Amino acid sequence: MTMTSTDLTKAIRRSDFADGFLWGVSTSAYQIEGAAGVDGRVPSIWDTFSATPGKVRDGSTGAVACDHYHRWEEDLDLARAMGLNSYRFSIAWTRIFNGVDERPNAEGLAFYSRLVDGMLARGLQPWCTLYHWDLPQYLQDRGGWENRATIDAYLRYVDVMTQHLGGRVKHWITHNEPWCTAMHGNWDGMHAPGNKSLPLALQVCHHVLVSHGLAVPLIRANVPDAKVGIALSLHPIEAASDSAADREAVVRHDVLRNRWFLDPLFGRGYPELALRLVGDDAPAVVEGDMDAIAARCDFLGVNYYFPEVVIDAPDQYPLRTAIVHPQDRERTDFGWEVSPQGLVDLLARVAREYPTGDLYVTENGSAYDDHPDADGAVNDTARRDYLIRHLAATRDAIAAGAPVKGYFAWSLLDNFEWSEGYLRRFGLTYVDYPTQRRTVKQSGRWYGAFVRGE
Ligand code: FCB
Repeated sequence: MTMTSTDLTKAIRRSDFADGFLWGVSTSAYQIEGAAGVDGRVPSIWDTFSATPGKVRDGSTGAVACDHYHRWEEDLDLARAMGLNSYRFSIAWTRIFNGVDERPNAEGLAFYSRLVDGMLARGLQPWCTLYHWDLPQYLQDRGGWENRATIDAYLRYVDVMTQHLGGRVKHWITHNEPWCTAMHGNWDGMHAPGNKSLPLALQVCHHVLVSHGLAVPLIRANVPDAKVGIALSLHPIEAASDSAADREAVVRHDVLRNRWFLDPLFGRGYPELALRLVGDDAPAVVEGDMDAIAARCDFLGVNYYFPEVVIDAPDQYPLRTAIVHPQDRERTDFGWEVSPQGLVDLLARVAREYPTGDLYVTENGSAYDDHPDADGAVNDTARRDYLIRHLAATRDAIAAGAPVKGYFAWSLLDNFEWSEGYLRRFGLTYVDYPTQRRTVKQSGRWYGAFVRGE
């Protein structure tokens, strides 16, 4: 029997979760800040990419976005009013180093200082992502993540930021979704910088992972009591049929999608099977790299949106798999499958197969195209129900043994959704872009009431 929406709101209670569980929202700099040319910020690869015709579906950029750079107090007030106790944000590297001065930009430092103080004043524990895809363009001009020198530039930036904020920010995420940085950025070209080469993507990926591993001890040295981790985009992989060929396709698909990250981070190196499949396209690895990548972390961040369904596809290099989209699945307006069970399975699998330490759902959310009704209310029942069902899934994963200590909904606000521009709305809060008016949606109102235990 399927539950109605009304039943769903009773499907879960805050008391189902431990005291001290973190309730948050996730955001990222390029998607919300705007103020692209303000206070010494220089262009990132996303400024360049989004200004290139044909790269973003609605032809938009993040130049203004939610104007969060100027409206951050109002935005943090929304999170506080919901009763949240944590807030995940990212720093725009382009506000800190401009590629010319050796010294960090005082105005950029001051902005993040104000922002973090604003979180603390509102009872929001700051969770800082150091890299959420907005590489300075001047570094891309010198080869970007393909160039090992970018690792050094990243470490210098991490050093400065963790010294600057380390007294106040204890939770640090080195990278958001290296799969997307590497593969969307350099293999399928859907994201900045828009390259289309597998060997390049794998080299980029390797350098991103090395930069993560080298950042871990650096952050610990700078931040007393630091908790350090990385946020991965992970997907349960499902076979489209029961055939042996499709079931083997799952193993091959998983090896690049998930294990290419999890295995080296937990000291197992790149999976043999993956190395065999990519052959000469494997990245160049310098002695010491794999040990660096395996630096012990305090937690793993899991970003979960949907499972992938695959078939055996012998002509597809390198995995001989293809993703399919079965008609009979429930989907969001973005076309992403809705599968709360996928989150249970994923968290349980990661906890079973890897010594992750604490787990956090660092992103989870849905895009539905809801707008204000005649009374100005945004009744996004589908998004609310998605949220409820995924919180129930998180609870069930905990019961199944996954040490999940917090949940961050993506996202506080509707925002710039990368190559989809402003066409996809993931927010718990509606943003009317022409006026920048914020309206908390039904989903955000529900989340707040739930978190406050009402
Ligand atoms: C994730 C990204 C995040 C957001 C969501 C919808 O892959 O980390 O920035 O775009 O997808």
